[in-house]
Amino acid sequence: MTAGIALTAARVAQVQAALLAWFAVHQRDMPWRRTRDPYLVLVSEVMLQQTQVSRVLPKYEEFRKRFPTVRDLAEAPVGEVIRAWAPLGYNLRAVRLHRAAQAIVERHGGEAPKDLAALRALPGIGEYSAAAMACFAFDQPVVVVDTNVRRVVGRVVVGDGAVAARTIHDAAQRLLPRDSARDWHLALMDLGATVCTARNPACRECPLRMVCTATPTFLSPKSRLAESRGAYRVNAKPFIGSRRYFRGRVVQALRDAGPGGVLRLSALGRAVKPGFTESDLPWLAGLVEELVRDGLVELQTVPWTGDSEATGASIVRLPRA
Ligand code: ADE
Repeated sequence: MTAGIALTAARVAQVQAALLAWFAVHQRDMPWRRTRDPYLVLVSEVMLQQTQVSRVLPKYEEFRKRFPTVRDLAEAPVGEVIRAWAPLGYNLRAVRLHRAAQAIVERHGGEAPKDLAALRALPGIGEYSAAAMACFAFDQPVVVVDTNVRRVVGRVVVGDGAVAARTIHDAAQRLLPRDSARDWHLALMDLGATVCTARNPACRECPLRMVCTATPTFLSPKSRLAESRGAYRVNAKPFIGSRRYFRGRVVQALRDAGPGGVLRLSALGRAVKPGFTESDLPWLAGLVEELVRDGLVELQTVPWTGDSEATGASIVRLPRA
C-alpha cells in the first residue's frame, strides 16, 4: 500500500474518535437518514449516486409517495417509473431500480436480504448500492465508498491527488469502526461534502487536520491544490451534444408525449435535435436501439413499404410492461 501514514491501531482509533465526535455535532439531517427501510435506503442511494442532495430531496419525497413500498414499485410498469424519474437524468437508474424491486419481491418475498453478497446478487444492484444498503439499512460493518468517502480517506491516508481504488478500499476497511459503521460512513460523507471538499478543503476547520496526510500540503503557501483539483473534477467532458445528452433528450421527448404517448422516429428526431434531417435517421435509429437494449424505450418497426421514409415512420414509446 502506498499509504502516506501507517495505520497503526492508535492512529486508527484517533481518526475514528475525532471524526465521530465531529459528526455528533455537525451531522446533516436528511429524510433517508431517518429510515432503516431497506427499500427507501435503496431508492435514496440510487438517486444520490449521480445527483446532488438538493436535487434529490424533492424527488425522493415525491417518489416515495408515488411508490411507498417495494411492491408498489415492482408492480408498476417500468415506463411509469421512468416517467416518475424526471428530471433526475441518468434514466437507466430508474430501470435498474425497478429490476431490483422486482427481484426483491420475486426472490425474497418483498424483504431485502441483509447480507452483502445476497444484495450484490440482485439484478440492478451494484457494488455501491449493495454496500450502502447493508450499512445504512442493516448496520452491517461493510465499507461504502462514494466520491466523498474516496476523497476523504485518500487525503487522510495517502495525501493529495489520485489514489488507487484498492488502496482506498483497504484503508477504508482498516479505518472502519465495526460498531458504528453507519455513523462512520455518514460522517465521512458529511465531512467530504462540507469541509474536505474537492476544490476548497477547509483544513483549518477539519477534525482530522492533525492526522491527515494532505493537510500540510493544502496549508502550505505553495499549495498545488489548483492543479490537483482537476483530479476530482467531474463532467470534465462537454455534456451538451454527448451520447448521454441525446439519450436523455429522447427519454424526455417521450415523457413529454404524454401518458401512452408514442412518437414516430422522424418526429422524435425533430424533438431531440435542432435542424434534424432525414440524413440523421441512421444515427437516431442507433441511439434508439441502444435505449431499447437498456430497457428504456420500445421500438415498433414499421414494415418496409417501399417508402423511403419508412425508418422515420417507426414508432418509439416508453416501455409499457
Ligand atoms: N446519507 C445517506 N446516504 C447518503 C449519500 N449517499 N450521500 C449523502 N448523504 C447520505
